[in-house]
Amino acid sequence: MTEEWVNKLFFGDNLYILREHVPDESVDLIYLDPPFKSNATYNVLFKEKSGEQSTAQITAFEDTWHWGIESESAYSEVVTAGPKSLSDLMQSFRAFLGQNDMMAYLTMMAIRMLELHRVLKPTGSIFLHCDTTASHYLRILMDAVFRVENFRNEIIWRRTGSNKGFKRFGPIHQTILFYAKSKDSFFVNPTGPYTKDYIKEYFVEEDERGRYRPVLLTGPGIRTGDSGKPWRGYNPTDSGRHWQPASYLYRKYKDMTGDDLANYSLLERLDKLDEIGMIHFGPRAQVPQYKYYLLDALGVPYQDIWAYQPGTQGSVYEQSDIGIDQDVKWLTTKDKERLGYQTQKPEGVLERIIKACSKKGDIVLDPFCGCGTTVAVAERFHRRWIGIDLTHLAISLMVSRLKDTFGPELSPYKIIGVPKDLSGAKALAEENRYQFEWWALHLVEARPAQDKKKGADTGIDGYIYFFDDKSGKAKKIIVQVKSGKVQVSQIRDLKGVIDREKAVIGAFITLNPPTKPMNTEAVSAGFYEPDLLPGNKYPRIQILTIEELLDGKKLEYPQLQKGTFQKAQRKAKEKEDKGQTSFIDK
Ligand SMILES: C[S@@+](CC[C@H](N)C(=O)[O-])C[C@H]1O[C@@H](n2cnc3c(N)ncnc32)[C@H](O)[C@@H]1O
Repeated sequence: MTEEWVNKLFFGDNLYILREHVPDESVDLIYLDPPFKSNATYNVLFKEKSGEQSTAQITAFEDTWHWGIESESAYSEVVTAGPKSLSDLMQSFRAFLGQNDMMAYLTMMAIRMLELHRVLKPTGSIFLHCDTTASHYLRILMDAVFRVENFRNEIIWRRTGSNKGFKRFGPIHQTILFYAKSKDSFFVNPTGPYTKDYIKEYFVEEDERGRYRPVLLTGPGIRTGDSGKPWRGYNPTDSGRHWQPASYLYRKYKDMTGDDLANYSLLERLDKLDEIGMIHFGPRAQVPQYKYYLLDALGVPYQDIWAYQPGTQGSVYEQSDIGIDQDVKWLTTKDKERLGYQTQKPEGVLERIIKACSKKGDIVLDPFCGCGTTVAVAERFHRRWIGIDLTHLAISLMVSRLKDTFGPELSPYKIIGVPKDLSGAKALAEENRYQFEWWALHLVEARPAQDKKKGADTGIDGYIYFFDDKSGKAKKIIVQVKSGKVQVSQIRDLKGVIDREKAVIGAFITLNPPTKPMNTEAVSAGFYEPDLLPGNKYPRIQILTIEELLDGKKLEYPQLQKGTFQKAQRKAKEKEDKGQTSFIDK
């Protein structure tokens, strides 16, 4: 897998993609954020049937979480072929839950969890993002697959500022379950900035090198060797302790003298440290302490609660404009990072995970990758990546996000599972009309009209926005996608839609070739001529077949500046992935 590696975006159901394309023990880190009607209430979930779900995103996976043939066959596979612990657990779940949506969800997760366990390296880790609806079941499920002893954390992430709770406290957190594959898992705790208060309280001393914190030079327990002997009038044994210089002091000594502190006996080490001014004998100290300089401090190692604190702006040391846990702040519509994908997670959350559990060049997998937060962060920190999603909407968003964020710095990647030729396109259209539509919209870089209610035909499948003057007002192109039979009345209708919507161009994308009368009708619509681009003419109605688009034909419009998707901000890739652990022994 290492030799000719190229990053990959897969379109399709992760269960099959994992089985067909991802070898055993080949992935270093997995983050998954499976869909789960996160705004649905507990009650809805426990009903046997769910109500109508209209958004495009849910349409894509709405069938997945209801009990049906698929759940039944996944259940029997897990129970008969899975490990005994999981088989027992699934049977207990079924006895308790019956065949409701929750059981369907857990069954779908169980079968995928086995695949994720298979592909993870022994040094790897997995993070499952979920909410209180199912986190308690998922944790037991992960215990059964990854084993209890490999549980590492239940991370609490604050997902919003406040939320109204009816007869309960406002639910404002989501849970990220962190398991390792084995005891050999890789982990380096990244650190965040100190608060100003913390600095004021602990880094109370100062010398010519700067501000420092006096820290104990001893550890608990009596020792009979050198480390238990008195030094400079203080006997650690009297307080049940022994000398134990922190690793920070060894590095500091090496940096300052070029010599290795380990070459000396323990009491000589203390003398040597005193010679270079690293020992604090201040009035506050009853015992000799060492100096931990603020300049060397990398910050506070992250704990298992990741909660941005509104109103704390200015309280973080030396970064006056940010608040506590600002990096993992939930996204609002005002945030530039937000791309309009409902369940998008902040990059900061993934940054912590990726920095903690992977190294440069490691392979990061997100099997439910939505608008691509994981792959974007993996790319930024020079990890290799695999993203999988079931919808073309997600795939096209990710393609735009990666291009906009990294430009020429973007590592090469392949998109796998999307139609490459006419027969592939026909197969997709037959399999799923919505997926075909999203994919076709992606070919002309159009934004799907997500506001469209399922079944209702407003005559608009997608939009493209662009600017061709200085007014700041975007011009609109209406896109229609047809996978079935086409006829001239559809072109007449499209003309009507353009007028109604005050659009400047109508694009008619069709799987089947247009008829002659359709072409004639399209031509009769005339041209769009932008005021600021005299002499440039663009047909008002443009018919493009899928075959032509696959051959490279383009929709014609003034492409001065496009605004189809909310553009991801340009970000430079990390120059160097610095070591993350603070020297301080806490
Ligand atoms: C909650 S969203 C992930 C959001 C993502 N973390 C982000 O920051 O954008 C879940 C995604 O899983 C995808 N999905 C659902 N079922 C899937 C399956 N069986 N295989 C692959 N992707 C799936 C959905 O299309 C959706 O984009």
